[in-house]
Amino acid sequence: MGLVTTQEMFKKAYEGGYAIGAFNVNNMEIIQGIMEAANETNSPVILQVSAGARKYANPIYLKKLVEAAIECNKQAGKDIPVVLHLDHGADFETCKDCIDSGFTSVMIDGSKYSFEENVELTKKVVEYAHPRGVVVEAELGKLAGVEDDVNVSSDDAMYTNPDEAVEFVKRTGCDSLAIAIGTSHGAYKFKGDAKLRFDILEEVGKRLPGFPIVLHGASSVPQEFVEMCNKYGGNIPGAKGVPEDMLRKAATMAVCKINIDSDIRLAMTANIRECFTNKPDVFDPRTYLGQARTAVKEMVKHKIENVLGCAGKA
Ligand code: G3H
Ligand code: 13P
Ligand code: ZN
Repeated sequence: MGLVTTQEMFKKAYEGGYAIGAFNVNNMEIIQGIMEAANETNSPVILQVSAGARKYANPIYLKKLVEAAIECNKQAGKDIPVVLHLDHGADFETCKDCIDSGFTSVMIDGSKYSFEENVELTKKVVEYAHPRGVVVEAELGKLAGVEDDVNVSSDDAMYTNPDEAVEFVKRTGCDSLAIAIGTSHGAYKFKGDAKLRFDILEEVGKRLPGFPIVLHGASSVPQEFVEMCNKYGGNIPGAKGVPEDMLRKAATMAVCKINIDSDIRLAMTANIRECFTNKPDVFDPRTYLGQARTAVKEMVKHKIENVLGCAGKA
């Protein structure tokens, strides 16, 4: 199976009460780690590329690396569905570039604009994407958190308004919608207890039955990696993510796509730090990058099997 869109994937996930993991990819080892985990668990998977990833690795490299992953799977007789997705597309041009170069899904993130401007921009991307067989994720509401010094829980305006969500989906024709229910990007998501507005998710689910919802900022920031980073010379005290049981609950509701980037960074960094400390004689990148790749694979496998619920759903 080559690259596919999220259409069939999300339909099955919605009906089956599970979610698909969308993992950010920046280099070969990350792609290999994720693909090994998805293959071994026979799971559908979304590989997503951010603007930062495109800048770091060059869009052509990333596209070719994903093509290599598909080709390797073909040769090995593996048949899992893989989506190549643009994460947080900032403008029409970036979305167009990805659509033209073979992405099967793009996100247009108009959340920083007014409702009307967001509708207009999203519609423009949908009108370009759909005739070319590409699906579009949009965003409504603002993801924020302690990292932005914004107290989301006391500011209702930050959360997605369910009424607006219905109007937005109807007017734009987008295929999935990222909503703000209290998650945030990065490794410092909550100062005190983790709180998510499941009431908003439930309301959106009721008003848009069968429509796939996306959860950004959904890393759980595993404490084993935080401790490992800090133990081996890192300095990330108090890093905290979304508890896995909350992600599991969201996956049984309308959430069909769960975005994970920070957990990959933590898995890699913790292991590279450990390797540098415990094997000071090592100067072959394959040793520490190999260890980091294995850590990514194990972390992704754990998510697929115990959090997302998409194991065996390929
Ligand atoms: O949503 C943000 C993702 O974690 C991507 O991060 O822009 O640093 O690649 P990045
Ligand atoms: P995390 O920072 O929680 O991994 O979120 C990633 C994300 O939402 C990518 O779009
Ligand atoms: Zn995001």
